[in-house]
Amino acid sequence: MRVLHAAAEVFPLVKTGGLADVVAALPSALRAAGADARLLLPGLPAVMAALQSPQMLAELGPCFGVAGVRLWKGRLAVPELPVYVVDAPMLYRRGGGPYADAQGRDWPDNLQRWGLLGWMAAQLAGSGLDPQWSPQVVHAHDWHAALACAFLHAHPVPGVRSVYTVHNLAYQGLFPLADHTLLGLGAAFLSADGIEYHGQLSFMKAGLSFADLVTTVSPGYAHEIATPEFGHGLDGVIRARGAAVQGILNGIDEQVWNPAQDPALAEPYGLGAMAGKAACKRALQREAGLADAADAPLLAVVSRLSHQKGLDLVLDALEPLLAQGAQLVVQGSGEPALQDAFEQAAHRHRGRVAAFIGYDEARAHRMLAGADGLLMPSRFEPCGLAQLYAMRYGTLPVVRRVGGLADTVIDADAPARAAGRATGIVFEEASAPALVSAVSRLVDLYRTPSPWARVQQAAMEQDYTWTGPARRYLALYEELASVR
Ligand code: ADP
Ligand code: GLC
Repeated sequence: MRVLHAAAEVFPLVKTGGLADVVAALPSALRAAGADARLLLPGLPAVMAALQSPQMLAELGPCFGVAGVRLWKGRLAVPELPVYVVDAPMLYRRGGGPYADAQGRDWPDNLQRWGLLGWMAAQLAGSGLDPQWSPQVVHAHDWHAALACAFLHAHPVPGVRSVYTVHNLAYQGLFPLADHTLLGLGAAFLSADGIEYHGQLSFMKAGLSFADLVTTVSPGYAHEIATPEFGHGLDGVIRARGAAVQGILNGIDEQVWNPAQDPALAEPYGLGAMAGKAACKRALQREAGLADAADAPLLAVVSRLSHQKGLDLVLDALEPLLAQGAQLVVQGSGEPALQDAFEQAAHRHRGRVAAFIGYDEARAHRMLAGADGLLMPSRFEPCGLAQLYAMRYGTLPVVRRVGGLADTVIDADAPARAAGRATGIVFEEASAPALVSAVSRLVDLYRTPSPWARVQQAAMEQDYTWTGPARRYLALYEELASVR
């Protein structure tokens, strides 16, 4: 099975969230399962710098308003994958982030930047750009690559199918309708059955409407997005696709997230050898300037600071959380108001609250290892990887019962504990009191060492490798390819 994954991010080169981790790990797991999976990426500076053995496949005339667009074929060393890179210096070679500048303002040419990525994916499938290889399945991730599905619908290629994975329905790629002329999709695509969305162009809708199969990153989120509460205005489109929308839970890359061989940690540890975790906690308390208190439950947040993640609830609940004797360390970046609020909280509660504003991969590992609990009070969560990493590191997640969080964390209620199945704390309501009572359940558990150790062990034993999910994707590709 030859499959091309098209995406904006890939760990460790370009990462704003879990998408990058998935795009690095899933194609690798598919290759391990016997598929010929390759990546198509935009030529962002980090990607160009990492491209090995580059071979130019094509130089294309003006497309999407820019000249000098080249398609390269090569390899990446990490992740170790064959890769195609769309090199459009005018669109991709700049500082700042993949979607926005350093001040957080969306790039004004995002329509061209991400339209080109989707277009190139369709071209690789249909135009023989690589004489030695072409995909049977084009698998587009999130709105940035979604237009591939519309281009393949506009110009079908015999034997080629498209899959679209929604990692987060909240980010839709909306643009002025008048800009459709830049895309070169016919007027037929502008209807409400096409990519028009309340008077705008929606890249997300291009994926949802025109992919042969739509997946999302947990079964729970697959159900939720078909409802008005979680559908971000697209639940009708999703319901209309019926069984063509499926939920497949993400996995974790055990090469990257394994406390027994994690170079970021003060000391390694693992099941049956937990002494290193105490050393990681001491090191984290020191690094964060928290009181050196081995018995204080240490709570962590490692997250984008956005409305989705519900971290305003952590701020609202802060005093009662600290009254339980807990410490809190936060690392994140995003909405300026949340950044400021966490910095101020750290200032007010010196020694008990610490805030690292920014992005630091190695510290994220140290935090997930050193903490006792991870807070994820998300309003919605398509899958969530941080809680999976936390469980792997014996750090018990405190999560809301939504999306992938509900699918992956088993609440430590009495029956689950008796059965040895509990892996964390799950709560219902998106409110500060509900979070406080969830954390107090965690703290009570923490203060009873042997039940705590049992839940910790169950969390660490969970199998969240990519082997199972990769097999499921492969089965879906094969099923699609078999339909004539
Ligand atoms: P999302 O993709 O919605 O941000 P996930 O839980 O799926 O949520 O993935 C988040 C990923 O990003 C995790 O790997 C997490 O460790 C990482 N992450 C988020 N914020 C930061 C940060 N400030 N520094 C380092 N890593 C971060
Ligand atoms: C998105 C979601 C997150 C998910 C990640 C990877 O960013 O917000 O829940 O884990 O994509 O699929």
